[in-house]
Amino acid sequence: MSNERKVWLNGELIPWQQATVPLLSHGFSRGSAIFEVFGTHVSPNGVMAFRMDEHLKRLERSARLLGMELAYSTDTIVQGVIETVRANNLGRGLIKILAYWGEEAIIQLVLDSKLDVAIFAIPDSEELGLDRAKPISACLSKWRKIHPETVPVGAKACSNYLNGYLARRDAYERGYDVGILLGTDGFLAEGSIESVFIVQGGVLKTPPLGRILSGITRLSVLQASQAVGIPVSEEPILREDLFEAEEIFTTHSGIKVSPVARFEDRELEAPGPITRQLMELMDDITNFRDDRFQHWFQPLN
Ligand SMILES: Cc1ncc(COP(=O)(O)O)c(C=O)c1O
Repeated sequence: MSNERKVWLNGELIPWQQATVPLLSHGFSRGSAIFEVFGTHVSPNGVMAFRMDEHLKRLERSARLLGMELAYSTDTIVQGVIETVRANNLGRGLIKILAYWGEEAIIQLVLDSKLDVAIFAIPDSEELGLDRAKPISACLSKWRKIHPETVPVGAKACSNYLNGYLARRDAYERGYDVGILLGTDGFLAEGSIESVFIVQGGVLKTPPLGRILSGITRLSVLQASQAVGIPVSEEPILREDLFEAEEIFTTHSGIKVSPVARFEDRELEAPGPITRQLMELMDDITNFRDDRFQHWFQPLN
């Protein structure tokens, strides 16, 4: 990690290596951290954030759902993002915002303090490959998505990711790229870090909110599909629907749309016609070739 990289931590830009917490901090030892990740894109008018307003609303909501409060207003965090982008000379990449109880908490579970906020700039790289979506393989995970009566699944909370970690690990051990989780009700939920869509009878389908994270890319794909006349439906999806789907793809803020080329022992056209149309549409949008969606971007310089 270069000495040049700066992290915005509680209002100050500090060297990346100094952005740390005590091992016994509540955030680390109890997992009380929430976060957001969104894309930055290079437009003719400078660097733009993809739907930062939606991401910051979700960050606030995550805090609220967990009975926590951020130490900084949305306006201050937006300013922090702008400063972080400038200080790191970020172009195409990702912004990660982490909010957490950074103070030590040996036995205390519920703290009165507000959440610290850290903002990281992560440039695109060979490893990230943000603009190189490739077909992936997916399996049905042996794990179920955490039930919404155990923790709020609408909160983007770091501790919820042990569930996603287990699903991804299970997938890797079985030779797949991602694991798709059913809910404890047996219906499709989502992937470890991605929303899941299927095409069935020419209709784009994805599970309704309530048991899954409210993905911002999911929202964007639904809105973009409606704008171009692709029929969409948010409805409960059965396990067997996955085995009969004409197309399957996943979405998340990093690589927007990833076509599934193999689901369990089924080979699928990847991308299929609707997935391809959506990949091209999202590519046009994020490369500023489609004026209909310019309100999705916020300038960062
Ligand atoms: C569990 C889960 N579902 C879905 C998503 C996709 O959400 P978004 O499109 O906002 O990145 C994520 C993103 O990290 C996730 O962690």
